[in-house]
Amino acid sequence: MTGPRMKYMGSKRAMLRNGLGHLLDEEAPKHKRFIDLFTGSGSVAGHVAVRNAIPVIAYDLQEYSVAVVGAIVARTRPLDADTLWKTWLEAAEPLVHDVQPPVGPWDSEKSVYAAREWCAAQLMLPITRAYGGHYFSPLQAVWIDALRATIPTAEPQRSVALAALVHAASQCVAAPGHTAQPFQPSTTALPYLREAWNRSVAAKTSESLNRVSAQHALRVGQSCREDANVAAGKLHADDLVFVDPPYSGVHYSRFYHVLETITTGECGEVSGSGRYPSAERRPKSRFSLKTESELAMRELLRSIWHSGATAILTFPDHDCSNGLSGDLVRKIASEFFKVTEIGVASKFSTLGGYSEVDKREKGRAARKSAKELILVLRH
Ligand SMILES: C[S@@+](CC[C@H](N)C(=O)[O-])C[C@H]1O[C@@H](n2cnc3c(N)ncnc32)[C@H](O)[C@@H]1O
Repeated sequence: MTGPRMKYMGSKRAMLRNGLGHLLDEEAPKHKRFIDLFTGSGSVAGHVAVRNAIPVIAYDLQEYSVAVVGAIVARTRPLDADTLWKTWLEAAEPLVHDVQPPVGPWDSEKSVYAAREWCAAQLMLPITRAYGGHYFSPLQAVWIDALRATIPTAEPQRSVALAALVHAASQCVAAPGHTAQPFQPSTTALPYLREAWNRSVAAKTSESLNRVSAQHALRVGQSCREDANVAAGKLHADDLVFVDPPYSGVHYSRFYHVLETITTGECGEVSGSGRYPSAERRPKSRFSLKTESELAMRELLRSIWHSGATAILTFPDHDCSNGLSGDLVRKIASEFFKVTEIGVASKFSTLGGYSEVDKREKGRAARKSAKELILVLRH
């Protein structure tokens, strides 16, 4: 997929150019459907959908992932982005002007705290109230609220617009990596915060809209918010299934709650410096619990095997912080399937993904090169 660049933990975008894309191009045409059980940013689902005349069905626990991926896999025609943007902008712009957010300059700790105070008082603007002055400047946050409130109602325009807004927000967010911790206005981080706060939400949304509108599937597919282990109970023997589960012992929702809030439109009260919504609003995965990940993986692979489907599974080839490892995943897979192994060198996010042992060497770089397994699982 040539889509907007969303920073995504474990995104397979690099691997698509490094062996995985070729494998999918070879395998997908032999199957009736392509099922992505942990779709995330949708790099793989999108890659298959735009190249193959088979429906792509994508699952994830996070709403925003479902929204972003659905905007492409569920649509078979390009959209006229210019007309869509013109109408949307005309509806959103007056709302921003009515609110008149403060516009900086954000050159001191004091000015950032004043921005936080102003945003916290905007009770009718959910994104501004929760995240303005932290992940976004007041102006950015008000733009996101205004664009979210005036999103087109007809499909597929609505899905495409929502996906564009999520992509734009992920590109503007003032945080070192994902949305787990915003930059604080310290002497060292203030320049980064100011640079991020000066990005234009409207311009990024318009750019993303152009890109998303142009991409479409060759057959109508869909995206659903569903647990992979439940979805695996609905597979067919002629499906090709892609399995790219979490490797981190920290739930994904910790890193993506801002995008989740933008998608659902509200988040209730937030707390802490990360501005997290309450725990029960954040999706939890058995694959991110050390005590459950092995069983969850075994149950998943057993269900896929029962269906008769072929699967492609990717996993980091080392010990991971969720208790799984390349070796354990190989072992579980071979309990059920005939396994063909393809190894590729890949860069992936280390955020939360490394085990205690690996953390010792982690300080050197935020991202590190490591081998990632590709297993083809057949009957
Ligand atoms: C390694 S990422 C997938 C990355 C994806 N292949 C890409 O290219 O962006 C794992 C994804 O699985 C999702 N997830 C975690 N547990 C899940 C479950 N039980 N069922 C479905 N999705 C789950 C997470 O929300 C996350 O988006």
